[in-house]
Amino acid sequence: MKEKKVFTVAVTGASGAVYARRLCQVLAKLGGTRVHLLMSDAAARVAREELGVEIDTADGRSVMKGLIGKEPKGFRYEAHANIGAGIASGSYRVDAMVVIPCSMGTLGRIASGTGANLIERAADVQLKERRNLILVVRETPLSLIGIENMATVARAGACVLPAMPGFYHLPRTMEDLVDFVVGKVLLQMGLEQGMFKRRLKRIGEGD
Ligand SMILES: Cc1cc2nc3c(=O)[nH]c(=O)nc-3n(C[C@H](O)[C@H](O)[C@H](O)COP(=O)(O)O)c2cc1C
Repeated sequence: MKEKKVFTVAVTGASGAVYARRLCQVLAKLGGTRVHLLMSDAAARVAREELGVEIDTADGRSVMKGLIGKEPKGFRYEAHANIGAGIASGSYRVDAMVVIPCSMGTLGRIASGTGANLIERAADVQLKERRNLILVVRETPLSLIGIENMATVARAGACVLPAMPGFYHLPRTMEDLVDFVVGKVLLQMGLEQGMFKRRLKRIGEGD
């Protein structure tokens, strides 16, 4: 029997909560995977401002309802203070971890290997186990510190995937721009190879 793919999706306090919402909605719709969902307190604050939702990061139901609109099958919320969760251990296989959006603060802490909360620890585990870690950073302009932190994590094996939509697919709506970035993330996760644009179009918000 084919083993289910296991993913970790960590939402941090950079602008772009909509990217996290869309990625989770697509993963929920695709199904057949296990998703560990993490959210920092700053991410909840940004979600309030950008998505207009009230989220209590101590309450998994509130996180899922606020971010995704429902509690999808296969999703499990992990409180970021719970450094004893399975994903904090290298013996628990996670095929890919995505930090979306990834704040400069979280990037810096991953680059320095602090492991002080579950997001930082789980990211560190992906690097030490030579597994897929995708950081959807969002900041502009960038300080040299941010640039050097990106170089550090890239050297350690992470994929730095800036939330930087292209325009060659002639986007017409904000959803088109969001799907461009989420499509790139799905490709890095090993999902939707070569067909993400068409499939994403069919996975509408109301599904
Ligand atoms: C509305 C809002 C937008 C923000 N946008 C960004 C951003 O785009 N990039 C960034 O690095 N930080 C941004 N921040 C600042 C981070 O939220 C802040 O540095 C926070 O401490 C990050 O914490 P975390 O990494 O634990 O999520 C934003 C904060 C707010 C309230």
